[in-house]
Amino acid sequence: MDAPRNTVAACPLDPTELVRDILLRHAGQEGSLLPILHAVQDAIGYIPDAAVVQIAAGIQRSRAEVHGVVGFYSHFRRAAPAPVRLEVCRAESCQACGGQALYAHAEARVAAAGTAEVSLDPVYCLGLCAQSPAVMINGRPHARMSPEKLDALLAQCPEA
Ligand code: FES
Repeated sequence: MDAPRNTVAACPLDPTELVRDILLRHAGQEGSLLPILHAVQDAIGYIPDAAVVQIAAGIQRSRAEVHGVVGFYSHFRRAAPAPVRLEVCRAESCQACGGQALYAHAEARVAAAGTAEVSLDPVYCLGLCAQSPAVMINGRPHARMSPEKLDALLAQCPEA
């Protein structure tokens, strides 16, 4: 089974080498900036400043352009993520099925754990609308969520 897309594994490689490899894989590809940014974040866990410089040089774009794209999409992180990354869907279907209370519960849970251990981000549809409300923990989706189920899932994460 493939690892979840957002899984950040311990990366034994030099980030500069990783970014160089990613740039090579996308060489000559039109509209490569977003795929490159996704690949860098998947590999490193976030988009380091040094990677922005390297990407800009690699695809002949300005640093400001790359920074602008990274800043525009909330998906892209500028700093290393917490060991447990919790994303709670705040789109319509989930909001209609208890998403507001679930998000409030998640906020309290993250405040108790500390943001160095658990991060919380809103997302707007995880494609699980028929099984709302939905969350994602370290890139793995979970549907039909409740505060109790969320607590049980987070209890399985030693850092949370
Ligand atoms: S609205 Fe939450 S998964 Fe679609």
